[in-house]
Amino acid sequence: MMLSATLACAVQAWGLDVEPVVAGCEYCHGVNGISVDGHIPIIAGQPEALIAVAHEQFKDWARACTTLKPPRGGEEMAMTSMCEISSSLDTTTINALATHYAALPFVPAPQSFDPAQGVEGARLHQLYCASCHLNGGAKAGFAGRLAGQWTPYLALTLERIKREEITVPHVMQHKVSEFSEAEISALLNFWASQQE
Ligand code: HEC
Ligand code: HEC
Repeated sequence: MMLSATLACAVQAWGLDVEPVVAGCEYCHGVNGISVDGHIPIIAGQPEALIAVAHEQFKDWARACTTLKPPRGGEEMAMTSMCEISSSLDTTTINALATHYAALPFVPAPQSFDPAQGVEGARLHQLYCASCHLNGGAKAGFAGRLAGQWTPYLALTLERIKREEITVPHVMQHKVSEFSEAEISALLNFWASQQE
């Protein structure tokens, strides 16, 4: 059975109990939202509003999504995507999922980084990004957490922001589009360097 259909059935059967739906999320996002796959974001501790809005954007196909086989799902699992999954969830369930994941602690990804590039990235972040992504991107304010997020996921997301495949604040879209590859790399190393 397709994962999205499984999730929809679970919601009907269990009403507002999100645990059965959460089990489906964990096939990709890891136990308690701590992803162990670099292409899948850590969602624990992200702001409630951001998690809910992300689902609404995926649902409207207003945000690029990847079709993949859930890495922790086992052999019989079908390919699916955030767009398909979000389309199978109603607003009440989405809000309950947002509350659930926002309350869990974010655990930074254990990944390598280049300290020298990280220093340059810190400077760029402070100049252009810190007004919304607070504490070097470590505080989950309205703009969400970047520090400690998986680098492969953030690199792809920045590409998509450049291509206008994700709806983000105009000022951010503009700045990200102007950055050179070296500047993007510096920022990625800065965020990866924050492992506490
Ligand atoms: C098949 C794997 C898969 C499943 C199952 C899945 N996700 Fe995702 N999710 C992803 C991927 C991959 C992304 C990154 C965007 C992309 O490339 O599609 C993502 C992105 C997200 C984001 C955006 C995060 C951010 O920082 O902007 C949220 C929120 C999210 N997922 C929540 C959930 C929830 C809640 C569930 C369960 C209902 C779920 N996901 C199930 C793969 C999955
Ligand atoms: C005006 C406020 C603002 C500024 C300035 C800003 N951002 Fe953002 N950023 C946001 C908001 C809000 C989101 C969440 C957008 C959404 O998905 O709804 C976001 C999301 C992101 C994401 C996606 C995170 C994820 O997991 O989905 C990345 C990457 C990002 N910003 C990078 C940057 C960079 C790099 C800069 C500096 C050049 C920057 N931002 C400056 C407000 C801002």
